[in-house]
Amino acid sequence: MAQVNFHFSGQITTCRAEKGQKILNIALDNGVPMEHACGGNGFCTTCMCTVKKGMEHLSSRNDREENMGLTSDPWRLGCQAKVKEEGEIDIEITA
Ligand code: FES
Repeated sequence: MAQVNFHFSGQITTCRAEKGQKILNIALDNGVPMEHACGGNGFCTTCMCTVKKGMEHLSSRNDREENMGLTSDPWRLGCQAKVKEEGEIDIEITA
């Protein structure tokens, strides 16, 4: 299990997550309001978030993220980034 800490509107929501779960799904399952206008298909960037800590515990950036211009840290699409392994991950949602 990984620990994902969502930072949003001055609050922190701490969640447990399984390997393979997407950041977007972890957020929504735990009541964290992450936008997802394209339904989690990697075409809108409304789920864009900042990885403040633990990027190494996430899957590598994929083609959809790079096609949307997210080619460098700390930016990720919540609907594309998946938990890769155990560890602590801090995500900031600014939308
Ligand atoms: S929900 Fe649209 S890019 Fe992630």
